[in-house]
Amino acid sequence: MFPGPTVYAREGDTLLVNVTNHAQYNMSIHWHGLKQYRNGWADGPAYITQCPIKTGHSYTYNITITGQRGTLWWHAHIFWLRATVYGAIVILPKQGTGFPFPQPYKEANIVLGEWWNNDVEEVVKQGNKLGLPPNMSDAHTINGKPGPLFPCSEKHTYALEVEQGKTYLLRIINAALNDELFFAIAGHNLTVVEIDAVYTKPFTSQAILIAPGQTTNVLVQANQAPGRYFMASRPFMDAPISIDNKTATGILQYKGIPNTVQPVLPQLPALNDTAFALSFNAKLRSLNTAQFPASVPLKVDRHLFYTIGLGINQCTTCLNGTQLTASLNNITFVMPQIGLLQAHYFNTKGVFTTDFPDRPPTPFNYTGAPLTANLGTKRGTRLSKLAFNSTVELVLQDTNLLTVESHPFHLHGYNFFVVGTGVGNFDPKKDPAKYNLVDPPERNTIGVPTGGWVAIRFRADNPGVWFMHCHLELHTSWGLKTAFVVENGKDSDHSILPPPTDLPPC
Ligand code: C2O
Repeated sequence: MFPGPTVYAREGDTLLVNVTNHAQYNMSIHWHGLKQYRNGWADGPAYITQCPIKTGHSYTYNITITGQRGTLWWHAHIFWLRATVYGAIVILPKQGTGFPFPQPYKEANIVLGEWWNNDVEEVVKQGNKLGLPPNMSDAHTINGKPGPLFPCSEKHTYALEVEQGKTYLLRIINAALNDELFFAIAGHNLTVVEIDAVYTKPFTSQAILIAPGQTTNVLVQANQAPGRYFMASRPFMDAPISIDNKTATGILQYKGIPNTVQPVLPQLPALNDTAFALSFNAKLRSLNTAQFPASVPLKVDRHLFYTIGLGINQCTTCLNGTQLTASLNNITFVMPQIGLLQAHYFNTKGVFTTDFPDRPPTPFNYTGAPLTANLGTKRGTRLSKLAFNSTVELVLQDTNLLTVESHPFHLHGYNFFVVGTGVGNFDPKKDPAKYNLVDPPERNTIGVPTGGWVAIRFRADNPGVWFMHCHLELHTSWGLKTAFVVENGKDSDHSILPPPTDLPPC
C-alpha cells in the first residue's frame, strides 16, 4: 500500500505492531512523535535505538500511548527508505472525551509525499559519488497520487467527497523527504486546530505551511457552491538553492458533481514567500487551559546553543575528492555500527562519547556574508548527556556557511515548547525577554527559519537515547544529526525499561 496502512488507536492504548520485513533492504520503523516513555526500544531509528530488521525477519514494536491524542505518522527510519514507506497514526481521544472544537461530520487523512521514478537508494548513491545533492523527486503526491498536473492519468488523483454544509477534519501529514510544503484548497479556508498531536488555539488561514515530519489538523467547511475544487501542495523554498516548484493536486468533490466539471487551482503562497512562513508559524499557539496545561519549563538548568551549518569535507570515494556535508556546532555525526541505546544500556564502551559541545567552538557572525573559511567539519558520534528531569533550553541557529537554509528539526522521545524564534543571529541578552512562556506551540518538529534561530524548551524526563536531526533527508544523510543521552531517574520506575527479547541483533 502507498501510503501504508493507517494505525488507529486511542489515548492510553498499548499497541503491538508486528513488523515483518519483506523488502530487499534492512528496515526499521519509527513512530514519529510518539513519546515512547522509558521505552526507546520501540522508537525505531536504525543504529540509534535498534539495529535494523533484516530481510525476512520480524520485530514487534510495543508502544504505550500516554498523554497524547491527535495525528502523528510512522515511517521507515533507515537511509532514504521513508521515501515510500510511511503511513498515518490517528490517536483518538479517550473514550467519552471529545475534541476541544465542534465535532466534524467526517475526517480524512491527507498525506503529502514525493515520488522518484528511480530507486531512491540509487539516487542517493549517485549523489554521494558526485559529492552533490542527489536528484530532486520526479513528483509530489497527495495520498500517494500526484494529480493531473503531472503527465500521469487522471486516475492517479486523490478525491475527497464532501457534502454541502458539513465540516470535515483533515489530518495533514508532510511525509515528503526534502521539502517544506504549502497546502491550500481552492475557495475554502482552513482552520488550524492541532499541530503534531497537540491542540492549538484555532485560527483560519487560506493556506498552511507544513515541514517534513510535522502534522497539522484543519477543519474545512464545505460551504461553497457545489463543484470540484483542487487541493494542492507545493514546496516552500526561500534559500538560493536548487528550485523545486512542482505542484501535487487532489480534488475536493461535492457530492453529485460529475467528474467532467473542471476544478480550479487554489492560490498557494509563492515558492519563496518567507513572510507567509514567518507569520503562519507566529499564529500557532497551544491551548494552555486548565484542561490542557502548557507545562513550559520556566527555569532552565541547561542552556544549549547549536549552530546548523553546511560544509565541504574531503572524500576519497567521491569523483572530485570532496563531498558536501552538514554539521551541528561544526560536528558531522557519524552513524555507529550498533544501536546507541543498546550501547548505553549495556554500557558498551567505544561506541559513542558524551562530549558534544554545548556551544560552537568559536562564536562568529552566524548569518553574515557567506563564510568560506572553516567549512571543514569534525566527524564523530558525539552525544550530549542530560540529567534526568533537568530542564533544557536549546537554541538552534542557522548559519551562512555555504548558504542559509530552513531546517525542520525533529527531536525523538519528546515534545518541546517553541518559546522564541527570530531572523538573524540569536541575541542571548535581548531575545529571551521576548519569549512566549504562556502559550507557546508544543510540537516535535520545528522549522529553523532561513538565516534565523529557534529556541525550544523541554524537561528531560524520558530516560533513553533520543535522536535529533534535520527532517530533510538529504541533510540527515550529510550528518545534520545528533542524539541526547537522558540519564535514568533515581528509581526503577524512572529508568529505561529492559529491552524486548526480539530486539533485532546487530
Ligand atoms: Cu520522522 Cu527521526 O524522524
